[in-house]
Amino acid sequence: MTTADSTLEWWKTAVVYQIYPRSFQDTTGNGTGDLNGITERLAYLSDTLGVDAVWISPFYTSPMADFGYDVADYCDVDPVFGSLNDFDRLLAEAHRRDLKVIVDWVPNHSSDLHRWFVESRSSLTSPKRDWYVWQDAKIDGSVPNNWQSMFGGSAWTFDETTSQYYLHSFLPEQPDLNWRNADLKAAMFDTLRFWLDRGVDGFRIDVAHFIMKDPDFTDNPLAAAPTDGIEFRSFGGYDKWDHIHAKGHADVHAVFRDLRSVLDEYSGDRFSVGEIHIFNWDEWASYYGDGDELHMPFNFSLVWSDWSAAEIRRRVEGLEAALPTHGWPNHVFGNHDEQRLATRYGHRNARAAAVLLLTLRGQPTMYYGDEIGLPETDVPPERRQDPWEFRVPGMSRDGCRTPMPWTAAPGHGFSDPGTEPWLPFGEDAGRRNVEAQLSDPASILNLYRQLLQIRGTRSSLHKGSIEFIDDLPDGVLGFVRADADERTIVLVNFTEETKRTSTPDEFTLLISTDQQRSGIGPGVIRLGPNEALAIDPGPSAG
Ligand code: GLC
Repeated sequence: MTTADSTLEWWKTAVVYQIYPRSFQDTTGNGTGDLNGITERLAYLSDTLGVDAVWISPFYTSPMADFGYDVADYCDVDPVFGSLNDFDRLLAEAHRRDLKVIVDWVPNHSSDLHRWFVESRSSLTSPKRDWYVWQDAKIDGSVPNNWQSMFGGSAWTFDETTSQYYLHSFLPEQPDLNWRNADLKAAMFDTLRFWLDRGVDGFRIDVAHFIMKDPDFTDNPLAAAPTDGIEFRSFGGYDKWDHIHAKGHADVHAVFRDLRSVLDEYSGDRFSVGEIHIFNWDEWASYYGDGDELHMPFNFSLVWSDWSAAEIRRRVEGLEAALPTHGWPNHVFGNHDEQRLATRYGHRNARAAAVLLLTLRGQPTMYYGDEIGLPETDVPPERRQDPWEFRVPGMSRDGCRTPMPWTAAPGHGFSDPGTEPWLPFGEDAGRRNVEAQLSDPASILNLYRQLLQIRGTRSSLHKGSIEFIDDLPDGVLGFVRADADERTIVLVNFTEETKRTSTPDEFTLLISTDQQRSGIGPGVIRLGPNEALAIDPGPSAG
């Protein structure tokens, strides 16, 4: 846990842990995780692991077309996850343990079964008609424009009842809400207040930049090769267009200024982080506003990078250069939409990534299971669940959403022994599980625990400045974190070879990805293949 610092808002120094609730802990024996399961595991999160906050992916009433990102009631809990009472108990227990709770908020679209949409689609004159985005067909009957759904195909679906098309940036079961309608906006802000009143500490805002589109519905141009910013992964056929008119319209900033005012109605530094897949740094940074919009847009630049010292440095420096003076950085290496970190970068590099995540400047967000190095699970075709895969083969996110293996026993401590979980466990769950790793001093779980402990107590790491070190061997990344009281030097060898680099004459090794390393002498450090370490150079280091 991070030592509290009364001069900084809690979210600046906190380490956040993302929970995908279907896969964390099942207490009802139905093979799907639930809120009571999260409550049961809070001791693991606060005491065993030592994180400061949890972000829980959606648990609201939902037909689960997109596993909860299709919300049918923003102010209730889906029975599969429990009840509002269960949520209140979770929140109280978390707060008793000094854990903050961030909930997901899905403002771009609701479920098509939300009563607002049912009413909206019922007639052209429905008072809720304008709460969603409706357009006439073109003269020839075709779709209003060329906007595409991220999950494949046109973003428009024809509705027989009123003979108009409605917009859905994702599934047809996820109609886009119309944020240009003042009543819709007020109603959505009330859903924030509903959770703020219950005491939540913040919101992760789903596809935050999507909520404002071009009011003239201009066709999108074909995509040109990216000329600036950074590369991310492919989103299949969706990449063919540059979606400039279908999201991120400049009017979005006024909405986030108003949203910030809603948060500021409450005491306790209520926090917002937006899921913003924008890889042009200046545009990305505009979501901080003048310190009056989102507290942070998520920084996804390290999720899909070349695993090289030069490229990681370029991305971190890009972020640091783009940050407004009032902006606080953040880093993330995975989430419920991305291939697992241990598979993407490899098991050894996943350890170095742990060191980077918890020593770079800014708020880190961990993804459940990464602390035990869970790889992507190979989900056989007959067990697949992700609707994206059904519409665009190859896009499945199931492999990163499989249940958390807590023990080696049947059911892996996640669910009842005889229950088939909603997604299968990985093949190695028998040996790669929390219990097994806790008893292995060299496990990645123990690496994370030590890192969290060191980060929590070293002020240079949780609030200090960052400066890269220049004259290092090829393939080695190094930086100094410093504040008025102390310094920490971090060195990461991105290569498969041993590297030597000079160090201060006296220093203390704080941590290494090689938990059994020995032979660290003054003046020089030998970095093993893929090794990452942190040292305390003492107060006099220059
Ligand atoms: C976000 C979520 C993703 C979801 C999509 C539509 O990208 O992270 O899981 O499918 O929005 O809501």
